Amino acid sequence: MKRVRFGVLGARRGAGLARAMRHAPTAELVALCDAHEETLTKAAASAGVSRTYTSLETMLESDIDAVVVASPMPLHAAHSVAALAAGKHVLSEVMAATSIEDCWRLLEAARASGRKYMLSSNYCYLRPWSIVLGLVRAGKFGELYYGEADQIQEFKGGFPHPDTGYNWRTSELALRRGHQYICHNLGPLYQAFGERVAQVACLGSGQHHLSWARADDTCVVLCQTESGKLLRIRLDFFSSRPNNFTYLGLQGVGACYEAPRGPKDEHKIYIEGQTPRGTWQSLYEFEDYLPDAWKAVPPEAVDDGYDGGTPLLIEDFARCIVEDTRPPIDVVDALNMTAPGLMSEVSRERGGVPVDVPDFSR
Ligand SMILES: NC(=O)c1ccc[n+]([C@@H]2O[C@H](COP(=O)([O-])OP(=O)(O)OC[C@H]3O[C@@H](n4cnc5c(N)ncnc54)[C@H](O)[C@@H]3O)[C@@H](O)[C@H]2O)c1
Repeated sequence: MKRVRFGVLGARRGAGLARAMRHAPTAELVALCDAHEETLTKAAASAGVSRTYTSLETMLESDIDAVVVASPMPLHAAHSVAALAAGKHVLSEVMAATSIEDCWRLLEAARASGRKYMLSSNYCYLRPWSIVLGLVRAGKFGELYYGEADQIQEFKGGFPHPDTGYNWRTSELALRRGHQYICHNLGPLYQAFGERVAQVACLGSGQHHLSWARADDTCVVLCQTESGKLLRIRLDFFSSRPNNFTYLGLQGVGACYEAPRGPKDEHKIYIEGQTPRGTWQSLYEFEDYLPDAWKAVPPEAVDDGYDGGTPLLIEDFARCIVEDTRPPIDVVDALNMTAPGLMSEVSRERGGVPVDVPDFSR
C-alpha cells in the first residue's frame, strides 16, 4: 500500500508527533520544519529524520503529501490554509483556529482545496475513552443526555509576563477569558454525542494568582447541544492543586461513566440492570469493547503522557488519504470542537449570558 509522505511543522510538540509516526504503518516521516535551528536539529535527531527546513514555504515546495501543523496555536489556521493552498493534506494540532473569522477562512480553504484536513485531537483517542465509545456504540449507555470534562492543569509558572516578549500561551491562555483550549475536553464528548454544540454560557472565578492575567483561575462552560443535551466543561490553568486534565464523565439513560479524579481512583462504570445498585464496576472489565486497531498498538507507542493513541490518530489520517475517505475528525468536526471555546469568551465578557455558536455545516 502507498505510504503518505509527511512534513512536520513545529519541532517541539511536533517532535512527539514525528516520533509517533514510527508506529503508523501508512505514514512516512520525510521532513521536519522549525524556524528555530537549535530546536530543529535536536528534534530531527530524536525523530530520525535528515531532511529539515527553517521555513514552511520552502517545505511546501517539496514533494511531501501532507503537513502536520504543530506551530503555535494562533498560527494554526494561517499555516493550514497555506498548506491546503499548496495542495497538501493537513493534520492540525488543537485548536483549529483562535478566532471565528479564521474558522470560516479555514473551512473555505479546506473545501476549495479538495485535500483532506483533520484535527489532531489526541484526547479523542485516549485508551479508556476508546472503551467508553465502544460501549456507547454497542448501545450500553442508551440515549446520552449529559457529559462533563475537566482541564485542570496548573500552568501559571509557564505564562511569561506579556512585557517580557511574545509567547502564544500568554496571549491566548492568560490574556483571554473563556475556554481557549476546549478541543481536548469537548472533542471526546462531541464524538460520543455525535452532534454540535449550539449554545454556550460561561462564568469564571476571577483571577487570584497573576496580577496582569485576564483569564479566570477557573471557568466553567455550559454547552447545550443541538438536540438539547447538556455538557459541563471546566478549565483551570492557575489553581494550586494536583492536575486532572483528562477527566471525562458521561451519563446515558442506561449507564454512567466517570474517569479517575485522582491517583487512588479508577475508571468506573455503572450499567443499569448489570452493575449492583449503588456500586461501580471497573471500566477495564469491558476491554473487549476496545476497537481492534488499539489491540495492535505496542505499549512503547503509548508514550505521550495522556494514555493516548497518537499513532492510531496518525494512521487513521494517512489511511483516509490513501483510501480517499472522510477523515474521522474533518474540518467541520474540528470547527465544532473549536468554536464553542471561542464563543465562551463572548459569553464570559457579557456576564455569562448564553450565546449561539456558528453552524459550519451549512
Ligand atoms: N494535543 C496535545 O496534547 C498538545 C500538547 C502540547 C501542545 N499542543 C499544541 O501544539 C502546538 C505547539 O505547541 P508547542 O508546545 O510545541 O509550542 P512551542 O511554542 O513550545 O513551540 C512551537 C515551535 O514552533 C516554531 N515556530 C513558530 N513559528 C514558526 C514558523 N512560522 N515556522 C516554523 N516554525 C515556527 C517555534 O520555533 C517552536 O519551536 C500548540 O498549538 C499546542 O496547542 C498540543
